[in-house]
Amino acid sequence: MTKRSAKKSSSSTGQPPRVAIAIMAAGKGTRLKSRHPKVLHEVGGQPILAYVIATAAKVVAAKDIFVIIGHEADRVRAAVASSGVQFVLQAEQRGTGHALIVAREALAPYDQVIVLSGDAPLITPETIQKLSAFHATQKATMTLLSAELADPSGYGRVIRKSARSAEVRAIVEEKAASARQKKIREINSGCYAFSVPALYGHIGLLSADNAHREYYLTDMAAVFQRARKKVVAMKTPHPAEVLGSNKRSEIVDLDARLRLAKCHQLMEEGVTIFYPQTCVIDSDVEIGADTVIEPFVQLLGKTKIGSDCRIRSYSVINNTEIGDGVVVLPGCIMDDSRIARNATVGPYSRLRPGSDIGEGAHLGNFVETKKIKLGKGSKANHLTYLGDTEIGEGVNVGAGTITCNYDGVHKHKTVIEDGVFVGSNSTLVAPVRIGRGAYIAAASCITDDVPADSLALGRSRQTVKEGWAREKRAASQVQKAKQS
Ligand code: UD1
Ligand code: CA
Repeated sequence: MTKRSAKKSSSSTGQPPRVAIAIMAAGKGTRLKSRHPKVLHEVGGQPILAYVIATAAKVVAAKDIFVIIGHEADRVRAAVASSGVQFVLQAEQRGTGHALIVAREALAPYDQVIVLSGDAPLITPETIQKLSAFHATQKATMTLLSAELADPSGYGRVIRKSARSAEVRAIVEEKAASARQKKIREINSGCYAFSVPALYGHIGLLSADNAHREYYLTDMAAVFQRARKKVVAMKTPHPAEVLGSNKRSEIVDLDARLRLAKCHQLMEEGVTIFYPQTCVIDSDVEIGADTVIEPFVQLLGKTKIGSDCRIRSYSVINNTEIGDGVVVLPGCIMDDSRIARNATVGPYSRLRPGSDIGEGAHLGNFVETKKIKLGKGSKANHLTYLGDTEIGEGVNVGAGTITCNYDGVHKHKTVIEDGVFVGSNSTLVAPVRIGRGAYIAAASCITDDVPADSLALGRSRQTVKEGWAREKRAASQVQKAKQS
């Protein structure tokens, strides 16, 4: 169902119902034992709450989404504000029922509200739309999404009127459940549809008479039941999508599920990922067809990889754009960089932010780069530091070359023009420019600009003392003979 057809589902007045989504995200998450709010803990590389908002935004417009915030409200708001949703402040967090009490004014203009938990990120737009439609066709006041879990512990249990009835008598929280009720495997997902006028006509009947002295939204089932209003459950055939994150182990489990799902999606799109359980790929990462990802690779942030690449094991690649046909050898670390097509990087290259590696270029073992441009076909293959440097095309940077870009106060730039040959173990003291086609003799310390097509030697001349070693050995033999 699309956004429009969801709105079209007719109500008794013939008008499409006005649907809002409320996301409860004000809780502290005490069971995580964390200094950070639960909904900002990350799974699959993004805050848990960001998934719930993104899903809600596929069902209704952002202006019809109300995120209820309270604990560390400013941080939570700042983390998701760019989504354009509305916020409702629950300054004191007195339970899920109280969260909806606080949202009364915001939700008053709507006919139906879908309530989601900000700590359950796997819910899908399809399920939300089904729940909304089911609620309307059942003419219910409250519809809860339920699921059958192999291990229901920790969740509220659904007490149906009878085994085959869609109608629900009550939801019993784990803490209040009898031994018999605990055996029920149908759990409350924490995702509901309510008729807004009925919800606010009865929400005042909630009491905080329970273990936590909180107002439970779940108690609305019994409240409506007593008022002879219809409460139904819709059981999802996909129980994994309701999983919440009350405990650290649940967050880690959600993260693993999201990442594995991401790997499977990429494989559907033509990417080979060996041992996907060992790879950490964030949700926004894009990879072209026929690229091979080897075990134990991390692809993070907004990383984008082209087609026909091979990313070998133990590389951690963050916010980096990689062109087609690139080979990344084992053990590379990259942040905020770019690699053009057919380049080869690694093993053990470290690309710090602003590294721009040209087409067909080579960056080799133990080469560190920062804010550089390495031109087409240029090579820096061994043990080198290149920082704040612009390197032209067809340049060879010898082993052990160091750009001295920092004078202790300021950073300075090195320019190496096309076709330059930098001999091994050279130090280039910036600011300095090496002209087109010039040669730098090995082990030079270059402090002045080098004109095009010249040879620069920046080292002391070699002296040779012939016979020196032979004489030294002979002298020590004489010494030894005297001592014995
Ligand atoms: C809740 C349900 C339980 C269900 C489970 C599904 C209640 C009483 N119980 O339990 O039946 O099986 O979800 O995951 O609702 N929140 C607020 N304000 C508050 C308290 C909580 O906004 O005052 C938010 C939390 O930040 C969280 C969500 O509501 O995102 C759910 O609260 P949580 O404490 O996780 O409820 P559960 O114990 O998991
Ligand atoms: Ca929860």
